[in-house]
Amino acid sequence: MTDNTSSPTMILDGKEVSFEPGETILEIAQRNDVFIPTLCFDPRLKPFGSCRMCVVDVKGIKNPVASCTMAAAAGMEVQTSTEPIEKFRKTLLEMVVSENREIEVSPLRGIASQELSLLVERYDANHGRFQGKKSGHSNFDDKNPFILRDYDLCISCYRCVRVCAEQEGDYAISVMNRGFQTQITTEFNGDLRNSQCTFCGQCVQTCPTGALADKKALRNSFLSTLRPDLERKKKKPRSRAPRALCGGGGERGGEKKKEKKKKKKKIFCVRRVNFLLLIVSKIGV
Ligand code: SF4
Ligand code: FES
Repeated sequence: MTDNTSSPTMILDGKEVSFEPGETILEIAQRNDVFIPTLCFDPRLKPFGSCRMCVVDVKGIKNPVASCTMAAAAGMEVQTSTEPIEKFRKTLLEMVVSENREIEVSPLRGIASQELSLLVERYDANHGRFQGKKSGHSNFDDKNPFILRDYDLCISCYRCVRVCAEQEGDYAISVMNRGFQTQITTEFNGDLRNSQCTFCGQCVQTCPTGALADKKALRNSFLSTLRPDLERKKKKPRSRAPRALCGGGGERGGEKKKEKKKKKKKIFCVRRVNFLLLIVSKIGV
């Protein structure tokens, strides 16, 4: 039964579900707790439809369709995980991972960095099934202190490029070449420091493979696990009272000032008494 009689409905894995006009099949599935694997999808970004992991069977359509780009229609009948669809996803995944130097990367690389490895595990995809050319070359020469650019792990989902453009409006990263020559790059293929990049970290947090990683998190974890003696000494908390930093205010500075004032007053009183005594002695009172 539908949960809202005024909304159109469709059949999702044999169950009638309602949806709002314009919703994609993937959005409806997610709302109804039906799992559909994705790689190029990020809910913050416009649907891109490049990885094809999210394909589903739609009755009446010969080939599987990408659920992240296909808008639902009233009466549509969708199957999300038929045997051929699951087989197709596994093969696709094996082709995708054949490009990667490694699959299991540190979760410290970024929030989404485990997406690919989790799918590989779920589908029991074989890393070495397909051999051949690889695309993307890591750029370890980029001396920026924040973002590791390890493109040997890149799967060309373009989430980093899209988040930089769509969410930040910076257009600092882009894509050059096509096919096996595809490379995520910056303007004139330079360092991030010489680009429009503001080091907001959005690209790191959307990357599903850890190809873009948080250098600082990796550096700190490396230091703390391998060389605990090199862990930074904890700094003493500094007072936020600005005058306390220059010794002119704050609790301690204030006390000092009071003591100084008292001393000055005492000296002044002694001098005044001496002066009066001098006058008295002069006039012989
Ligand atoms: S660097 Fe990461 S987010 Fe960017 S295209 Fe490659 S895999 Fe996707
Ligand atoms: S998630 Fe739909 S095509 Fe990539």
